[in-house]
Amino acid sequence: MSLTPSPPLPKLVVVSNRLPIAYREDSTGATIPRLSPGGLVAALAPALAGSGAAWVGWDGTFSGSEEPLDLEGFSLQPVSLTQAQITNHYEGLSNSTLWPLFHNVGVNPEYSEAWWADYLQVNRLFAQRVCNVVAEDGTVFVQDYQLMLVPEFVRSLRPDVAIGYFHHIPFPDATHVAGFEHAAELLEGLGACDVVGFQRQSDVDHFRACLQELNPSVEGTSLPHSAAYPISIDSAAVSTAASQPMVLAKAQEYATSWGNPEWVFLGVDRLDYTKGITQRLLAFEELLASGAVSADTAVFVQAGSPSRENVARYQQLSAEIDAIIERVNTTFPSVTGRPAIVYLRENLPRTDMLALFVVADVMVVSSLADGMNLVAKEFVAARHNDTGVLILSTHAGAAEQMPEALLVDSFVVSDITKVMQEALIMEKGETARRMKQLRADVAIHDVAEWATTILGDLSQARKA
Ligand code: G6P
Repeated sequence: MSLTPSPPLPKLVVVSNRLPIAYREDSTGATIPRLSPGGLVAALAPALAGSGAAWVGWDGTFSGSEEPLDLEGFSLQPVSLTQAQITNHYEGLSNSTLWPLFHNVGVNPEYSEAWWADYLQVNRLFAQRVCNVVAEDGTVFVQDYQLMLVPEFVRSLRPDVAIGYFHHIPFPDATHVAGFEHAAELLEGLGACDVVGFQRQSDVDHFRACLQELNPSVEGTSLPHSAAYPISIDSAAVSTAASQPMVLAKAQEYATSWGNPEWVFLGVDRLDYTKGITQRLLAFEELLASGAVSADTAVFVQAGSPSRENVARYQQLSAEIDAIIERVNTTFPSVTGRPAIVYLRENLPRTDMLALFVVADVMVVSSLADGMNLVAKEFVAARHNDTGVLILSTHAGAAEQMPEALLVDSFVVSDITKVMQEALIMEKGETARRMKQLRADVAIHDVAEWATTILGDLSQARKA
């Protein structure tokens, strides 16, 4: 009998609600999983590549399979979930309770006991899987609000491991969060971490204040190490990809198809009510009404990837956007018949998305609340000739790091219109000066820096 030694258990395990997988069909119609190239994948690739690391998450299917997948050097460990668990954990507690709770933009969090029960259950399943795969004294790095109880469940089973958590979304005012009936459990869940990371210092402050508010006897020293680690993008990769001939050709094709207008305004988002999409479209409507531009001289291109479509508030948003676009396009027709607002309601291929960044004159990021907003960073990384103006909401975490953008309070539609007008008259030299600085900053503060810093702090905190 020959004994094959089993491979060593991974020393680092990343946990996120979704595995970074996209599917495509091959020529026989079979579905092939591929690693989807997101910022997080790029950031963690150096730490994860090879045999020493794994990624635990849902693979987006109901196949029931928990067979590990090895893709491009990544060991992906799917957690199998049922439709009911997706309904209650993902669409319910995660995206109808916690998402509106933490973004706090006037959408009331909904709640049901069944959602909470499955939030607990799914967090337990993830934690169990992590504990089965992580090496002794290894590191567990948990991502985002869908999994806030994972650290506590992992800690109870595996006191040996280091645990980090990163909150990708905002942490608003403490009293607001403390009002949620399970806030204490969520925050205690994070108390099991060695490091808890947020996007901004204000998020850290709110988190600490919330812990104090829920448990006034808690001492500063008994809190986990919490700090701001602003996340970023793989700037070099975006920059290189944006200069590829295929992207440039697509950019040209877009411009031609829109009749080469003088001004291309652009929005690129997941279709989410926190992104301020209606506000920016209304601002463009005001801009057209003001006569500063017309549907012949300008186009607003809104790319929106459908998101969380089973959640009622998202369906409502979709209808609101459709109605505004129809009204604007009817009120402001162009001579050629090309609509004033071109709506690309789809998951665009990467080439097309980069081509939009390249072809735009004014990028509008008008989030009402946003942990960071990586689209803003991708836009500047894609601008090789230092042209293009970035309009950026003060409510996006990115605003703190991108002061050369035209910053705006995106709750005030007329203020967005004003900065759109400013963009139209900005001197070329001033536009270039701002873009150069934005590009330089995003090139230095990339996602590799983020990963190195937070994982470094995690290993320090464990040793301390
Ligand atoms: C936000 C969240 C992520 C989430 C992503 C996509 O960026 O912070 O945790 O993965 O949206 O949302 P989805 O619901 O499609 O996973």
